[in-house]
Amino acid sequence: MAEGTRVEESFDRSAGEYDEILSHNRTGARRLVEAIPPGDYDEILDVGCGTGFVTEEMVRRFGTSRVTGVDPSEGMLERFRAKLTDLGAEVTLVQAGVHDMPVPDGAFDAVVSGMAFHWFPDKPGAIAAMARRLKPGGVMAVLASGTGTDAEFLDVLRAIDPPVPPGWISVFDEIQRTGDQLAGYMEDAGLEVIDAWEERRVRRTDPEAYMARINAVASHLSSGLDPDVAAAHGARVVDAVTSAAGPRGFEYAFVKLFGVARRPA
Ligand SMILES: C[S@@+](CC[C@H](N)C(=O)[O-])C[C@H]1O[C@@H](n2cnc3c(N)ncnc32)[C@H](O)[C@@H]1O
Repeated sequence: MAEGTRVEESFDRSAGEYDEILSHNRTGARRLVEAIPPGDYDEILDVGCGTGFVTEEMVRRFGTSRVTGVDPSEGMLERFRAKLTDLGAEVTLVQAGVHDMPVPDGAFDAVVSGMAFHWFPDKPGAIAAMARRLKPGGVMAVLASGTGTDAEFLDVLRAIDPPVPPGWISVFDEIQRTGDQLAGYMEDAGLEVIDAWEERRVRRTDPEAYMARINAVASHLSSGLDPDVAAAHGARVVDAVTSAAGPRGFEYAFVKLFGVARRPA
């Protein structure tokens, strides 16, 4: 997925409701930050910072006082600023993508990224770009959606006739990686992996809430389509997810990848 496919369009649209619809990302951010070794993390960089779930946890756990948030979505950056300013941090905002972020090399005690890595177009390149912003001895912590996430939804999409736009299917392979791949990218970027693991959960949710999450993160996939065509496909997807749901809701897997690594001192 090339930078500039406007993933951020989805997040500009969903920024106001993001914290409510994507509340699982907050608990993931907490587990990521808990896995960071004790240390001094006064100045941090958060890439794909969104509304700031990971940075918030850094401030709470380590008393981080200077935070730089990088995100192409203006709507997300506004919320990041409001939240982190309320927590007393000095905030710098950079509206950019990971591959062209104008932030200095070797400048940060930690570089963190929560639930954004899967949207980065060049995944090894993104890890390398984040690694070079670390001070020697600094720590990188990444949380991402992994291979197997929403596999049941992919099955539903594949069975729809007439077929949904091909990009709605191919996006799964484009964005998802395994925990081993994430750890490998960190090693290739010259980092020492401290901990890397995967968590797989099976969730059951009301089909409407499920579709609200999908729309919050992936509405940009409909951007190039004629609005009527997109609406017709969207309605068929809602019907198919509703029919696939059982008495406890639509059941789907969610795989989270965690990686924590250090730049050698
Ligand atoms: C699912 S949100 C995650 C937000 C937040 N970090 C969290 O933990 O909830 C993904 C974020 O990645 C941003 N993003 C998308 N493409 C990006 C890119 N190429 N570089 C940096 N951030 C990007 C989006 O705008 C969005 O704010």
